Amino acid sequence: MLKVGFVGWRGMVGSVLMQRMLDDGDFKGIEPIFFTTSQVGQAGPDVGVDVPPLKDAFDLEALKALDVVVTCQGGEYTEKVYADLRQGGWKGYWIDAASTLRMADEATIVLDPVNRGVIDAQLARGARTFVGGNCTVSLMLMGLGGLFEADLIEWMTSMTYQAASGSGAKHMRELLNQMGGLRDSVAAELADPASAILDIDRKVTAAMRGGDFPTDNFGAPLAGSLLPWIDKPMENGQSKEEWKGSVETNKILGLQDNPIPIDGLCVRIGAMRSHSQAFTIKLKKDVPMDEIEDRLAKHNEWVKVIANDKDATIDGLTPAAATGTLTVPVGRLRKLAMGGEYLSAFSVGDQLLWGAAEPLKRMLKILRE
Ligand code: HSE
Repeated sequence: MLKVGFVGWRGMVGSVLMQRMLDDGDFKGIEPIFFTTSQVGQAGPDVGVDVPPLKDAFDLEALKALDVVVTCQGGEYTEKVYADLRQGGWKGYWIDAASTLRMADEATIVLDPVNRGVIDAQLARGARTFVGGNCTVSLMLMGLGGLFEADLIEWMTSMTYQAASGSGAKHMRELLNQMGGLRDSVAAELADPASAILDIDRKVTAAMRGGDFPTDNFGAPLAGSLLPWIDKPMENGQSKEEWKGSVETNKILGLQDNPIPIDGLCVRIGAMRSHSQAFTIKLKKDVPMDEIEDRLAKHNEWVKVIANDKDATIDGLTPAAATGTLTVPVGRLRKLAMGGEYLSAFSVGDQLLWGAAEPLKRMLKILRE
């Protein structure tokens, strides 16, 4: 039985991973060992099989005894532990949610419904480091996999509408506090149907700009607004989130030597945990719409093509519809005015599921095959 150590299992991504593994009975048939950075010796979680007391996540000897480490602890932990563990001769499998190692040569970015061939080839070569992709990239590939698989994409743009959860749990709380603060600032006016909407708007704007509006985490109002910058700046004017869109996609697909140009703008919006993206896709040829829809729908069992009509779109192509599910709806599919080779598309997906936990869960399963 594989000895599998879990680190960061209590955080937001880790908790989603634990729940998904419990849902699918994944703890049976492995020997799970839970690690902690603060509560060594306490009882481990109830996962339906016996587990030893919590071990120290920085104890290299304890980690070296494992066949697999699954970490959702974050990049800082990876930086502190990974290199020492490898230098100490550990040859186990490292499965990581953090971005730290993603672009390292030794790391394979995992999204098996899209790149199982790349994963298998890397395993056959003896690769031992497997990292989940950026959430926006993984969700884009789950939605548009059928077009990549058929090598139909010459270039594309992705304009994102990213949820608060991508920044972390505290940010989700802050978004809700901001929403509540705006509402509370005009509670009396909202209760009076005769109040003037421009007065309400003025008060809401003043509340948003006020010194006591909660912005410690986002650094600015997000509720009632948006933030068109995610992550650090790169030197070329891109944000790091935008840079990842191209480099990670091409690495996942094994196309580093002949990359597909992908670029766009990444924007934080006031959704809770589902990221949305609008795509402009330049196709290599003028493919009929029914073939496009067919290829998209057949690529994997989670993508769901949504008819390009208003009712189907507002019913099924929203964060409200996708959140908490593994379904990745793709819609607004139509040829753009620029010509038959220009396709528009819009996709939504839960960034904690396919965007974070699910590819790691599935990688652990692949190791057990
Ligand atoms: N970087 C993403 C975001 C989340 O900020 O939304 C994780 O991939």
